[in-house]
Amino acid sequence: MNLKHFISIHDITVEEFHELLDLALKLKKEHKAGIKHTMLDGKTLGMIFTKSSTRTRISFEVGMYQLGGHPMYLNANDMQLGRGESIYDTANVMSRFVDGIMIRTYDHQDVLDLAKFGSVPVINALTDHLHPCQAMADLMTVYEHKGTLKGLKLAYVGDGNNVAHSLLYACAKAGMHMSVATPVGYECDATVVANAIDDAKETGAQITICNDPKEAIKDADVVCTDTWTSMGQEAEKAERVKIFKDYQVNKELFSLAKDDAIFIHCLPAYRGYEVTEDIIDGPMSVVFDEAENRLHAQKAILVALMG
Ligand code: CP
Ligand code: NVA
Repeated sequence: MNLKHFISIHDITVEEFHELLDLALKLKKEHKAGIKHTMLDGKTLGMIFTKSSTRTRISFEVGMYQLGGHPMYLNANDMQLGRGESIYDTANVMSRFVDGIMIRTYDHQDVLDLAKFGSVPVINALTDHLHPCQAMADLMTVYEHKGTLKGLKLAYVGDGNNVAHSLLYACAKAGMHMSVATPVGYECDATVVANAIDDAKETGAQITICNDPKEAIKDADVVCTDTWTSMGQEAEKAERVKIFKDYQVNKELFSLAKDDAIFIHCLPAYRGYEVTEDIIDGPMSVVFDEAENRLHAQKAILVALMG
């Protein structure tokens, strides 16, 4: 694998996508067998957070530790970045100290600039536009539960957001069909959809975009949703709850998926809004396997970039 950064799944090849998944599965198996890894011995990962996090912070910190490296949590508000220091200077300075940078922030361009101006690998740990580490963990989880990815159908119901975008790219690379249903005005970014459709030509994945949750979920093997109000959209919450109410993943909607369909959600989840308790806490839900796989999927990314 010859990865320089991990910013978008659209940027990696189908082969690299599968190599990362295979490596994640291998690292998980070996870790469970008690095998110690030292691939990142002496390496430091600077982890910049401009937004909140539970899973991403913990899984990256634990992952670095398990690989023999050192994670450094950096709250952007405690950095000079939070007082207006430029991405250019931050990238140059950090590149003199650390071996890799993970960043969670609002503006996707900031991640691209960090990679452009710095000289160490950059990992996108969520922007308003994409959440690629999540999508890797999601498809790893689907693979573990279904034994395959190619030819399966994933239905995403809800907001056409960062999580939906990265799943579009991941499904396209995996040869998984994906249908997305969002309210009018909350559709996925048109460029992302066009890129995913283009990527899907190589793998045979079918990408379908609509506004009808019933149409999207029909015969799905995997059902996915995400919060209706992403970080930074808090002021729109009341309006969004009204607009998204018919997009709730509940028993009635879920019954249209295949009998053995599984439910995934990146978490944090808001029960009673985008999903009902009987679904997210029911036997079809694999959300905690999915959360755990953030660790293993990201360890593969870290090894590929910094190992
Ligand atoms: N799914 C996810 O990225 O969770 P956190 O916001 O807790 O990191
Ligand atoms: N779409 C959500 C994902 C949280 C992990 C957000 O951006 O807030």
